[in-house]
Amino acid sequence: MTSIIVFYLLYLLSLCLGLACVVCVCVWSGHWRGGFAWDGSALEFNWHPVLMVTGLVVVYGVGAVVYRIPLTWGQNKLPWKLLHAALMLIALILSIVGLCAVFDYHNINKISNVYSLHSWIGITATAVFAMQWVCGAAGFLLPCSPVTLRKVLKPVHVWLGGIILLLSIAACISGINEKLFFALKGNATGTQPYSSLPPEAVLGNTLGVLIVAFGLVVLKILSNHEWQRPDSRPEGLAYTPLLQEENE
Ligand code: HEM
Repeated sequence: MTSIIVFYLLYLLSLCLGLACVVCVCVWSGHWRGGFAWDGSALEFNWHPVLMVTGLVVVYGVGAVVYRIPLTWGQNKLPWKLLHAALMLIALILSIVGLCAVFDYHNINKISNVYSLHSWIGITATAVFAMQWVCGAAGFLLPCSPVTLRKVLKPVHVWLGGIILLLSIAACISGINEKLFFALKGNATGTQPYSSLPPEAVLGNTLGVLIVAFGLVVLKILSNHEWQRPDSRPEGLAYTPLLQEENE
């Protein structure tokens, strides 16, 4: 019972931290960086942090813990499986549009692509996530995928799920740091230098701390075996057409 209460407290905390991350990144891009547009200007770049944090961190993290909610364990797994896949698809689409924003901005302004450590980590996170989504959909949603394949795939899927979140967090932290150094250069640009910790830097740093806190809470939920959905599939079942099954 105590363990269930701890779960719900951590789950609520993750939702609050996720919401705070989205609010913080929207205020930063929308207010401090001038708002949004899709015209090749710096305002187009502003979509990048908002969509990456919302997609690859918050929606991804919320989608990752869907199966852990004890209230759902007695219910048919299929709707939760579809919700998990749908949230992950939303996360993937948001992050692809977020990447399009920064690549388009770089190409129009003749800035070189994929030169920074941030971009290397970010590209890796998104590519592994896209691969994970395709393998997950093929392995766990296609009616013709055999149970033996799913048994092999499941631990790899869970392990890679945590790795993707860690990579996304590393990408966000390095991206925030890079943006603060680019934007807060000091007098010549009409801004205060990052080193004098102006209000925008406090907001950026706070966003980074919130992202790390959100990631740690989600990883804590994912790493506790007591909060794993019990597997109720009958022993020795060789093949189950997934989209028809009641309770895998
Ligand atoms: C999971 C999250 C993120 C991923 C996967 C990601 C990925 C990328 C990639 C691949 C690029 C290179 C684009 C190109 O070369 O044309 C890039 C650029 C950039 N990103 Fe992110 N990003 C993420 C989050 C953020 C955040 C939160 C910020 C904060 C403002 C940010 C700031 C930047 C900046 C300033 C650039 C341009 C400089 C550079 O190429 O490194 N990113 N990002």
